[in-house]
Amino acid sequence: MHIDILTIFPQLFEAFRTVGVLGKAVERGLVGLEVHDLRDWADNKWRQLDDEPYGGGAGMVLQAPPVLAAVRQLEQGGSAPPRSLVLGPRGRVFDQAMARELAAEDRIVLLCGRYEGFDERIFDHSRLEEISIGDYVLGGGEVAAMVVVEAVGRLVEGVVGDPDSVIDDSFSFGLLDHPCFTRPAEVEGKAVPEVLLSGNHERIRRWRLQQAVELTVTRRPDLIKKSWARYSDEIRELVRSVAPDLADNAAEESRCT
Ligand code: ADE
Repeated sequence: MHIDILTIFPQLFEAFRTVGVLGKAVERGLVGLEVHDLRDWADNKWRQLDDEPYGGGAGMVLQAPPVLAAVRQLEQGGSAPPRSLVLGPRGRVFDQAMARELAAEDRIVLLCGRYEGFDERIFDHSRLEEISIGDYVLGGGEVAAMVVVEAVGRLVEGVVGDPDSVIDDSFSFGLLDHPCFTRPAEVEGKAVPEVLLSGNHERIRRWRLQQAVELTVTRRPDLIKKSWARYSDEIRELVRSVAPDLADNAAEESRCT
């Protein structure tokens, strides 16, 4: 997997690409992560890329020609063209399913916006897809690109040491993750749930699943409805025992879709 990032603030990625699980993956060559300064494609000695909006109004707009030149240059090479994505609040909302989809690609280009955004014509003349990390507005696409790289990078084979921890994660099964505990066994009078000390793997597995279901029912009932079709019989039974109405609703909705 190779990821190219285009940004006017490459320095933001300096620490990001070297630390933690992702840093190791980059070091080991499992994930190629190259950060490019969009200003390298500016066609003037001031390396300026933005101009005033036609029609007036506040803020500046990133010009199309240098952005298109940059994207096209990065899209060249390789046996197949990469998935080219531009980060922005009006895009398709990024989720775990999309992370899985992107993790299956060989190459991704991520274009980060700033200011008021890009000249709209970049979308007419490229294969860029717009992608948002949620319904809020950031100052630019860089932090959003980091979110995408983190979520996608850890799904690349070999990046996370224990593959079970990726499979187990919240959202992989449409459930929030169960709570975790570590030493000391007691914290300010609060003990670890007894079952976790029992050594009985089946009881522990069942307890964790029950906790995950209860958490999801109370905090993210929308996720239960969205994921019902993918749930095992065991998970459906647990949801039914905790929230029968929600289970009926989710089952009904999944029959209709
Ligand atoms: N840039 C600004 N806001 C954004 C968002 N919500 N998602 C992705 N990129 C953005």
